[in-house]
Amino acid sequence: MPDELCDGLARRVQQVIDEEGVDLVEHTGLGTDAVSDLGGEYKHHIFKGEDVRKHLPELTAVYHALVPLISVITHTDTVVSPYPASDVNIKAYPPGGGTLGLHYDTNGITVLLFLTTNQEAPLRYQVERSHPSRKEAWVEHGKVHARKGALLIMQGRKVLHDCEPTLKEQKLSVVYNYYERHDTYRHPDFDNFVYYGARPSRLEG
Ligand SMILES: [Fe+2]
Repeated sequence: MPDELCDGLARRVQQVIDEEGVDLVEHTGLGTDAVSDLGGEYKHHIFKGEDVRKHLPELTAVYHALVPLISVITHTDTVVSPYPASDVNIKAYPPGGGTLGLHYDTNGITVLLFLTTNQEAPLRYQVERSHPSRKEAWVEHGKVHARKGALLIMQGRKVLHDCEPTLKEQKLSVVYNYYERHDTYRHPDFDNFVYYGARPSRLEG
C-alpha cells in the first residue's frame, strides 16, 4: 500500500487514540494453555472489529478484497472470520514499552498490514524445524521489522510469536484474521482475555 495512504490511515488511528475512542490493553501474566498464551506482557491500544468498521472502513474493504490473494498464496479455501470483534484489529504500540506477549494465534491464517516503518519493536517468531539430515528437531528464531504498506502472512497456530517492546517509536499493525472454511474454531474465552484481560477458564471438551 502506498506511503500516503498508510500515513493518512495512521493519522486517523492517532486521532481516535487521542480522543480516547479505543481501549488500552495493559496486563501481564494472565495467559494459559487454553488460549495458547505463555503469560507475557501486553501494552497497546486496540481497535476491535467494530472500531475499525466505524473509524477506518477502508481497512475492512481491504480485508475482504484480500481473500482471493491469501487463498492463492496459502493454497487454502480462505474465509473471513465469523467473529466480529476479532476479524480486523489494529494494534497500536505506544513508544516506551508497547508490546505483546508470546503466543500462538487461534486462527489459522494471520495477515499483518503495517502502517509504520520501524527500526525497533520487530515481530519475533519461533518456528519448529526438522530435517532428515539432522537427528533432532530444532527451533528457528527470527525477527521481522515492520515496513510501511507491507503485508506479512503467517501460520499463527504454528509460529510462536510476540512483539519486542518499543523504545522511542510508535508501531501500527493492522491484524487480519482469516480461517480455512472447514476450521473456524476459536476458544470462547479468547476475546475476553485478549481485549479485556479476563483470566481464561480451562479449555473444555
Ligand atoms: Fe498473534
